[in-house]
Amino acid sequence: MAHDTQSALRVELARAKVNLALHVTGQRPDGYHLLDSLVAFPQIGDRVALEPAAGLELRVEGPFARDIDGPSDSNLILKAVRAFAECAGTPVPKVRLTLTKRLPVASGIGGGSSDAATTLRLLEDYSGNYLPEETLHDLALSLGADVPVCLYPEPQRMRGIGDELAPGPQLPVCGIVLINPKVGVSTPDVFKNMSQRDNPAMPELPGRFNSVVQLTEYLSECRNDMQDAAVSLCPEIGNVLSAFDVDSRIAFSRMSGSGATCYGVCELRDAMDIERQLRTAHPGWWIASGSLS
Ligand code: C5P
Repeated sequence: MAHDTQSALRVELARAKVNLALHVTGQRPDGYHLLDSLVAFPQIGDRVALEPAAGLELRVEGPFARDIDGPSDSNLILKAVRAFAECAGTPVPKVRLTLTKRLPVASGIGGGSSDAATTLRLLEDYSGNYLPEETLHDLALSLGADVPVCLYPEPQRMRGIGDELAPGPQLPVCGIVLINPKVGVSTPDVFKNMSQRDNPAMPELPGRFNSVVQLTEYLSECRNDMQDAAVSLCPEIGNVLSAFDVDSRIAFSRMSGSGATCYGVCELRDAMDIERQLRTAHPGWWIASGSLS
């Protein structure tokens, strides 16, 4: 966490959450789906800044600012602040949060969830009020099924409805390219559109992947069980995956979450050049690249 001691400004990268694999293994009576997912957090994300202010304030800027609820009470960042204060038994903190929205919204890479989780971490640091781990986890879960995993931006295996977390394998040094065709996909609609809900779990995970080849071999044995349903709702996802297919430097590609964002894994040295070429070929798409971990 970056601190500026003069202005007491705290700044954090709210990393994108990428489901390298996403198996849907069942459904609970309340309708929520059971998942088995390998999650990674590349060095690509929104920026969240916190500083003291006269009262609680949220500013939203950045390329996707217009696509989200700004000061409305339904914004996940403001919900996180209020829920944190209630849990900690303190008044609502007088802070200004500035969100620089760089990730596309409703895009399967957990942007809103990561913003909320990052806000909780910033509030802990600002107030010195560190909640017990279980309390923080439950608070995060009350904000959304993907928020707990975003509290720990490192490789994780996520099960249950997203609430059962275990450390994931160490990932190799490698690059990742993210593409979103700038079409929002509704997560509940994709879940509803799935034809099969009780699929096999992920194969056993090793403790580490030593190379892009090893990671690719493992991921080839896995699936994203939401991908077909998402492609049928948003055929442009198929075009994104085809664009990855034609670049031989992309070792592996798949959709993340409920889409429409897809990821491609490559050697780190190739990531920026692949991004540049894809941008030229597809100026209407959102494309980002960086280190996978
Ligand atoms: O928890 P969150 O608000 O992120 O979930 C959005 C929607 O996605 C839920 O209302 C639910 O319809 C669906 N969902 C699901 N199973 C999950 C997570 C989300 O069916 N494990």
